Amino acid sequence: MIEIAPSVLAADPLFVYRDVSAILGAGADLLHLDIMDGHFVPNLSFGPAMPAALRKHFPDITLDVHLMISDPGRYLDAFIKAGADEVTVHAELDHDVKALLERIRGAGCRAGISIKPGTAVKNIARLLPFCDLVLVMSVEPGFGGQKIMPEALKKPKELRAEGFKGVISVDGGINEDNCLDVIRAGATRLVMGTAAFTSKSPSALFSRCREAGADA
Ligand code: DX5
Ligand code: ZN
Repeated sequence: MIEIAPSVLAADPLFVYRDVSAILGAGADLLHLDIMDGHFVPNLSFGPAMPAALRKHFPDITLDVHLMISDPGRYLDAFIKAGADEVTVHAELDHDVKALLERIRGAGCRAGISIKPGTAVKNIARLLPFCDLVLVMSVEPGFGGQKIMPEALKKPKELRAEGFKGVISVDGGINEDNCLDVIRAGATRLVMGTAAFTSKSPSALFSRCREAGADA
């Protein structure tokens, strides 16, 4: 079963409630929240106020928080308090990533690790037992609307070869034309920003992705 996780980064910032209501109405399974600090990535997005507001207005939706920030340890509690169900940190951090994953799980959330296009699966093999999900970046993190890097699509199978049994999420540049490739590559969750929020019919787009998942 394929999960579809629209990235709120691609919603109109002045009309987040309208856009999120529409995307959930179209059948999205959960919401992906891209948190950027202008340091780990060359862009800024939003802080814990966004998941807190989404949690308030959409109490039942799963919030998948992707931290692209240099010091996640400092902000982890704030995002968890804001209502995150899942928190993902980057493998490339110069930190004790295992301790962060343990803190996330210890707080009752699902823990994720994300790898940039240049980071190999073997580099995170020892951390996989501490993860509920792996977020494979198929673009350089920082901006929505980029083109998918197909070389990232070898990673889901490499993760399974390492024995990882959790959610494999692929993030960046996914659209109607390449979603079948991403699913065949082994993704169980598609993060979609631009394609989801600019689609004339997101429900048709999501159905096509799910049908592709059923055939894959
Ligand atoms: C990139 C983010 C992605 C991105 C996805 O740094 O992690 O979640 O916003 O957006 P699209 O689908 O537009 O590539
Ligand atoms: Zn993301």
